[in-house]
Amino acid sequence: MGLPALGLLLAAGLLHTQASPSARSFQLDYEHNCFRKDGAPFRYISGSIHYARIPRPAWRDRLLKMYMSGLSAVQVYIPWNYHETLPGVYDFTGNRDVEAFLDLTAELGLLVILRPGPYICAEWEMGGLPAWLLWKPDIILRTSNPAYLAAVDSWLHVLLPKIKPRLYHQGGNIISVQVENEYGSYYACDHGYLRHLLGSFRALLGSEVLLFTTDSTGAQELRCGTLQGLYATVDFGPGSNVTEAFGAQRRVEPRGPLVNSEYYTGWLDYWGEAHASTSAAWVARGLEDMLQLGASTNMQVVTRQRAQPPGQWASPLAFIPLGSGQHGPYMFHGGTNFAYWSGADYKGQYKPVTTSYDYDAPLSEAGDPTEKLFAIRTVISKFQPLPAGPMPPATPKYAYGWVALQKYADLLDVLDVLCPSGPIQSQFPLTFEALKQVHGFVVYHTQLPWDVPDPAMLGAPPHSICDRGYVMLQKEYQGTLERDGQTTLHVTGRAGDSLDILMENMGRISFGANTSDFKGLLGNLSLNSRPLSNWLIYPLAIDTTVQQGWPHTALPKSSSGGRVGPAFYTGTFETPGIAWDTFVKFPGWSKGLLWINGFNLGRYWSCRGPQQTLFVPGSVLHAGRPNNITVLELEGAPPTPLLLFLDHPLYNRTLGCSTMATE
Ligand SMILES: *[C@@H]1O[C@H](CO)[C@@H](O)[C@H](O)[C@H]1NC(C)=O
Ligand SMILES: *[C@@H]1O[C@H](CO)[C@@H](O)[C@H](O)[C@H]1NC(C)=O
Ligand SMILES: *[C@@H]1O[C@H](CO)[C@@H](O)[C@H](O)[C@H]1NC(C)=O
Ligand SMILES: *[C@@H]1O[C@H](CO)[C@@H](O)[C@H](O)[C@H]1NC(C)=O
Ligand SMILES: *[C@@H]1O[C@H](CO)[C@@H](O)[C@H](O)[C@H]1NC(C)=O
Repeated sequence: MGLPALGLLLAAGLLHTQASPSARSFQLDYEHNCFRKDGAPFRYISGSIHYARIPRPAWRDRLLKMYMSGLSAVQVYIPWNYHETLPGVYDFTGNRDVEAFLDLTAELGLLVILRPGPYICAEWEMGGLPAWLLWKPDIILRTSNPAYLAAVDSWLHVLLPKIKPRLYHQGGNIISVQVENEYGSYYACDHGYLRHLLGSFRALLGSEVLLFTTDSTGAQELRCGTLQGLYATVDFGPGSNVTEAFGAQRRVEPRGPLVNSEYYTGWLDYWGEAHASTSAAWVARGLEDMLQLGASTNMQVVTRQRAQPPGQWASPLAFIPLGSGQHGPYMFHGGTNFAYWSGADYKGQYKPVTTSYDYDAPLSEAGDPTEKLFAIRTVISKFQPLPAGPMPPATPKYAYGWVALQKYADLLDVLDVLCPSGPIQSQFPLTFEALKQVHGFVVYHTQLPWDVPDPAMLGAPPHSICDRGYVMLQKEYQGTLERDGQTTLHVTGRAGDSLDILMENMGRISFGANTSDFKGLLGNLSLNSRPLSNWLIYPLAIDTTVQQGWPHTALPKSSSGGRVGPAFYTGTFETPGIAWDTFVKFPGWSKGLLWINGFNLGRYWSCRGPQQTLFVPGSVLHAGRPNNITVLELEGAPPTPLLLFLDHPLYNRTLGCSTMATE
């Protein structure tokens, strides 16, 4: 499909409009450089929201606040790996019920710009691609590679039929659908792949829907990311020269609406770096400049209620979404990377993204209106009327205070529970992908093959620790090996001493050439350069076990009293009355994961920061009965293991980590 398909689309659209002007349609008007909705010129202000980062009970509240901010549309990514959890195994239930989310957008009168990938970036684990694609180690992601295309097509055949009845011209609220995401920034530059996607999207969604691409404004990106038949849009932030940026779009799309698909309102955080922030004034001024640019040429922001005659569209600044920068984020409401869903970047080194995806966005991580939201809303109100009624207030937060935890057991003492099928024997280490372990943790166990009376160097070749290895000798924690960090340790011991490495996956790279981000021990661990062998490998099913109530429902373990090394801690607390949202701080803890009532709230890494608290949505808590806390601390707990529940988050504090955290 190429030009002919687009020509057909336009011809069909125009005929359609002429035949029955009142019929539902959403189209490109190349003559007047604008969108047309139901035949009339149309533009909208949109904002991004990631349903996968928000617990389902909060969806309506967040969407309502977006609507009340004056937005007419939301941009919605669909993360493939969130729904096709294993090949051919789909999950569209509970928090993953994307159709229920889309129903809410329609109910609230919001239009939707859908971004179903298959690749989305979004700082999400592997950019939304399922890690099981890497079970075929030679697969070439985001190209015409047959194994990759087969998986994509099988997914699109499940997803897109759910979308088709929701398209605008079918009576729904989805006005346009993005194909791939910033493909021009990917090294492969495979137009055959884009052509294949165009064919699949057309076959499954029909010829009428408006399909588009989004790329940054560089010439190379626009060459590799665009294809005839897919409307080319660009993304740029408030610091960019709007004239130049739209000039870039004009070089690939000489006519049609000018579109900035992503305008960033903030930025994400990486573990170990300072908290990012973008001033409300700057974001508001950038937005106002864009709207003024139109106003100076008699442009107004036209909503569904207020269409302008075509003659007034001298400057066709078509839609002004709130959010995103060069490769992803652009958020109106970011939310939280619960469980293992945060991605990572590779910029000279591996950089994992924090659990909070607050993003310094107009709606905070907990969904509260910020100063930035009100600044943006004020700007919008200068150009179009706001919906009647007040902005819903911030939801109440509660400081539940201190909660004491008890050590339950060292991780190495509960392998039988966490790996019920038992270990896999292998001469040399196997990757998570070879073991079909998607997220989380794997233990690699062996024995010292000879006496080591003098300190010997335990190490791995470059790029083979993915991403952190907690080393235990005779079950005693020795320290941590880290990707692009410390990759050797000195150990002493005797032949036959047990050696265990707990490998942690910190999230797969979501952007760039390295998204084939295999996890685990990717090379041989060696002792004084001699490879170790004869491994017992334990893929751990921690989440399944914790969801079933463990360890709260299990018999108490007589735990060894030590405070360092990977271990589980438990505790309970009750909420007085209603279960409000809260934030939990980890005073003196090092790094690990938190579950409450079996829900995985994500990683904490207090000693590295900048994030010091995890967001606990009230919807995971139970009022009137004990809430069960489970912590997996990886390096070292404080002498008195306490958690502190606060009524506010702490996002910007970096404390020092010592290898032996609390000793
Ligand atoms: C933006 O770029 C245009 C074209 O290069 C230039 O004429 C204009 O001065 C620039 N505007 C600003 C504010 O830098
Ligand atoms: C975060 O803390 C760092 C170091 O103290 C500081 O330089 C930075 O300005 C802070 N960022 C914000 C957003 O407060
Ligand atoms: C991919 O990772 C390797 C190291 O594992 C690094 O040398 C290379 O620069 C990375 N490539 C990109 C594009 O980030
Ligand atoms: C591990 O060492 C063995 C023996 O030297 C070698 O055959 C194997 O290829 C190595 N594995 C990796 C992943 O380097
Ligand atoms: C908490 O654990 C207890 C066992 O100690 C169990 O009976 C109860 O159902 C659990 N509560 C929740 C909310 O999971």
